[in-house]
Amino acid sequence: MNMKKFLSVCAAGLTAIALSASFVPAEADQVATIQAAGKVVMSTNAEFEPFEYKDSNDIVGIDPEIAAKIAEKLGVELEITDIAFDSLIPSMNKGKADFIAAGMTATEERSKNVDFSVPYFNASQSIIVLADSEIKSRTDLNDKTVGVQQGTTGDIYCTDEDGTSDIKVKDVKRYSKGMDAVSDLIAGRVDAVVIDDFPASKLVEKNPEKLVKLDEAMTEEEYAIAMPKGSNLKEVVDQVITELQESGELDAIVSKYIEVEGVESEAEASK
Ligand code: ARG
Repeated sequence: MNMKKFLSVCAAGLTAIALSASFVPAEADQVATIQAAGKVVMSTNAEFEPFEYKDSNDIVGIDPEIAAKIAEKLGVELEITDIAFDSLIPSMNKGKADFIAAGMTATEERSKNVDFSVPYFNASQSIIVLADSEIKSRTDLNDKTVGVQQGTTGDIYCTDEDGTSDIKVKDVKRYSKGMDAVSDLIAGRVDAVVIDDFPASKLVEKNPEKLVKLDEAMTEEEYAIAMPKGSNLKEVVDQVITELQESGELDAIVSKYIEVEGVESEAEASK
């Protein structure tokens, strides 16, 4: 074979490899990549107690504990990165994280861009108001100004872009932290805050004289871990969650952070 022919064969070969590579989902063997790196990167938004929050320099909560079990199963170290909630999916899809554990609700819309694990938690969107508010039920939110955390299901539901919600609020104010929405509620700049149930309880606990959480929730939803589409990491994550559920360990983790039926949680007791 002369040099020219040899080079053109090489070029054809490279093109074939490049083409076939582009047909395989980018993260198809994510597990091997993670194991070769010796670490798995979880990305979250640590403004969501009790699922993830900062305790001095550490990011702690229910999701980091589940993530630690995933790392253990993979036999690698766990690294956690903390970013804005609405950047989580785009950032993972740019390769900056292996999975998202962020009390993230599995929605159809998000499923277009990520694969979700089996669900690990049933949640709902709660409504927080001032103790003397005239808002007593979800329908009282009609024509009111509501604070939400940017890009969350609370935001999506209140914004109602597709017009499917039965509640028509007047205005939605978006915050990067649920805590900031609550500060504006206390300052009278919003009439209510819509946020996930357990974070809502934690926020109300911090201001028990001023705030109440309504009994009636806005929506019911399920949390799941998000991974790049087509990744084989999903099998591992599903297995870890199923094992934690079947062994009762998941309940044990949750009850460390959340009061269950009036029993004081360990995290509360140690404060
Ligand atoms: N469950 C809601 C959602 O998926 C809110 C999650 C917010 N999580 C967080 N770590 N800030 O939209």
